[in-house]
Amino acid sequence: MNLFSLEDLEKTELVDILDSALSGDIPKAKSQGCVALLFFENSTRTRLSFERAAQTLARPYMNFDIDSSSLKKGESFEETLEVLEDYDISTAVIRSAQRMFDPDSYVGNLNVISAGEGTFYHPTQAMGDVLALAKSWGMASVSMLKGKTLLIFGDLRHSRVAHSWFEMADLLGINLKLASPQEWMPEWGAELNRSSNLKEGLLGADAVMALRVQTERHSGQGQGIASFEKSFQCTQDILAKRPLLHPGPTNWGVELAPELKKYENSLIRSQRQECYRVRTGLLARF
Ligand code: CP
Repeated sequence: MNLFSLEDLEKTELVDILDSALSGDIPKAKSQGCVALLFFENSTRTRLSFERAAQTLARPYMNFDIDSSSLKKGESFEETLEVLEDYDISTAVIRSAQRMFDPDSYVGNLNVISAGEGTFYHPTQAMGDVLALAKSWGMASVSMLKGKTLLIFGDLRHSRVAHSWFEMADLLGINLKLASPQEWMPEWGAELNRSSNLKEGLLGADAVMALRVQTERHSGQGQGIASFEKSFQCTQDILAKRPLLHPGPTNWGVELAPELKKYENSLIRSQRQECYRVRTGLLARF
């Protein structure tokens, strides 16, 4: 089984995984196979929560040290996966800047779960976000989010979370609105309601998600941070008590005003907790 993007799951399977997590059940692992964590890009939340998920399920796990591995001697990633399998590892959790292998030509039996792929996908983050939202509204199923409107604003072009949300919104029937400076609008989602003004984007939104300005992925030209802060920084008054999400890490004082650290309807901590829950549910299955 591969989970690179949400499209790798049937809608019924996605809803089942999410609703099981929403019910608060702590799942039992179907397999006690070892989990390998391969992180080519930095992470705090995703890596720690996958580690804790493996511990919660009493599955053995290991952090694969990329820098001291034979990948640095030119070994291919496919062969690395084969090595993992030969040491009885059954699931690989991978964070990388791009797809590390072609799943169509990979002949091994490892389960592969994305922990974030470049600017393309972060499926388990969107899954945790959905849980945080459904929980905040007291919903018994994520299906009840159908018809709700979520505004996502910020550096959309470089955000894998936003792209996974594009898939999620389609699967669950959530209306997605986008707000961003023109140059940070993504190539996907041309059919969505798009605005280059935050206040305009907020009209009709039931909840708001801010995204980090990812300077590490910028070419160094164009929209400056100072200009973004001035026209897009979200403050408490314009939120008008709507739930606020941010997958983190947050640039406080850039996309979100520091006053929002204490915002009563912030779901930021809930997102972390629900991502941990959803990753536990995934490692219980795969
Ligand atoms: N949201 C998220 O993926 O955070 P990390 O980069 O800390 O894992």
